[in-house]
Amino acid sequence: KKKVVILISGRGSNMEAIVHTARREAWDVEVAAVISNRPEAAGLAFAKAQGISTVALDHKAYPTREAFDAALMDAIDAHAPDAVVLAGFMRILTPGFTEHYAGRLLNIHPSLLPAFPGLHTHRRALEAGCQLAGATVHLVTAELDHGPILAQAMVPVLAGDDEARLAQRVLSLEHQMYPRALAWFLAGELRQEGGRMQHRDGAAQLFT
Ligand code: GAR
Repeated sequence: KKKVVILISGRGSNMEAIVHTARREAWDVEVAAVISNRPEAAGLAFAKAQGISTVALDHKAYPTREAFDAALMDAIDAHAPDAVVLAGFMRILTPGFTEHYAGRLLNIHPSLLPAFPGLHTHRRALEAGCQLAGATVHLVTAELDHGPILAQAMVPVLAGDDEARLAQRVLSLEHQMYPRALAWFLAGELRQEGGRMQHRDGAAQLFT
C-alpha cells in the first residue's frame, strides 16, 4: 500500500478532495498524516474526523526556516511516505527539504505555470487581462513554483470576474485534477520524455 502525507496551511479543500476521491475510487493508498504549519488550519478538523493522524507544527515556534523544515521532515519521515503532497501549504521550503523529497514532492499552484508563480495569482491574471486561467500540478524543486509539470487545467476568465469568483472557478478544477494527477503519479503512470512529464498511455494531462 502506497502512503502519502499531505501538508496544508488552511482550508484544506484540496486535501479533502484527495481523501474523498481516494475513498470513492477505493485507491490502495493510505493518507498517513495531514500536517499543518498553522495550528488553527480548518483542514485539520476534517482530517481528524476522518480518522487521519494530524500534526500541527507551528512555524512561529522555530527560530529559523531550517529548524522548522528539520522538524517537518522528522514528522513526515515518521510515516515513510511514497509521496508528500503540498495542498495549499503556504511556506517557502529550504533546498535541504526539497532535495530530501526530490521526485516525490508534489504541489498544486493556482495558475498556468510558468505564468504567475508566487502569490496573488488570480489578481495578477486579472490585471494582465488574461482570457484563460488555471492550475498546475508539478513536482517541487528548489525554485519556487517550478519543476516538472504533471497536469494542468484551465478555465475561462469571464466578464465581471473578480479575484474571488475566478479563484472559485479554478479551485473547482483543482479538486478534480489534483486527485487524478496524484493517482497517476503513485501508479507510476507518468514518465519524463523529452523534458516533459507524459502519461504512459498518452492520456491528456490537460483538464478543461
Ligand atoms: C489552492 O487554490 C491552491 O492552489 C493554492 O492555495 C489554495 C489552497 O486551498 N496554493 C497556492 O497558492 C500555493 N502557492 P485549499 O487549502 O482549500 O486546498
